[in-house]
Amino acid sequence: MKVKVFDNSALLYDYLCEKVISKIKENPNITLGLPTGSTPIPLYERLIQAYIDHKVDFANVTSINLDEYVGLGPTHNQSYRYFMDNTLFDHININKANTFVPNGMAKDLKQECENYHNLLVLKKVDLQILGIGTNAHIAFNEPGSSFESITRVVPLSKSTRNDNRRFFKKLEDVPKKAISMGISDILLAKKIIIVAVGSHKAEAIKNMIQGPITEEVPASALQMHSDVLVLLDQEAAKLL
Ligand code: GLP
Repeated sequence: MKVKVFDNSALLYDYLCEKVISKIKENPNITLGLPTGSTPIPLYERLIQAYIDHKVDFANVTSINLDEYVGLGPTHNQSYRYFMDNTLFDHININKANTFVPNGMAKDLKQECENYHNLLVLKKVDLQILGIGTNAHIAFNEPGSSFESITRVVPLSKSTRNDNRRFFKKLEDVPKKAISMGISDILLAKKIIIVAVGSHKAEAIKNMIQGPITEEVPASALQMHSDVLVLLDQEAAKLL
């Protein structure tokens, strides 16, 4: 893993945005793997500005999101489809038909997961952007997730539901399950950039980089990938 620590998060996001833009320029038909959560928001803001400034063209870009809550549809303001549309897709010239988020309302969730996994195998993510949970989850692969896992329905841990509670009115409103790409799905990506900002991520980052490779620390699976870049601010890097 290559680790880069920035003096502040603005510098980190400037760097990340430039990286993403240069990858799109290199390959206008790129497939991006995209995350939700608060971590990618400053990246998406910068990408929108770059689009407005004619510095990047998303016309032929495909995007594949990591996960979605079970039971929340595209019009629910906490669904990840809603988040992606509102935070990025509706403000750039990406073809919506080429943006993929699992359907958390699918009647047959098992089939939905199988189709999503097949999509990943077919499209192959060129650049996967990741955030990390405070318990070192990636996508919604909670501690204990198998490194062999593919897209499936997963239960959400207490700590993750508590972390994400801030987006909902009350804890009971936070879904208990999600559809998530598996760890082995994520490792299929050709290049991975994982981003963490803030001291609440420091322990997860330390365990991911310096700890043993163990299913108890889902992000430690990234040590097995040959092209991973870790972008951190000073706070997230403070235990390294
Ligand atoms: C969520 C998402 C992850 C994300 C993580 C961190 O639960 N499923 O993909 O990386 O939590 O979220 P945040 O960026 O808000 O800290």
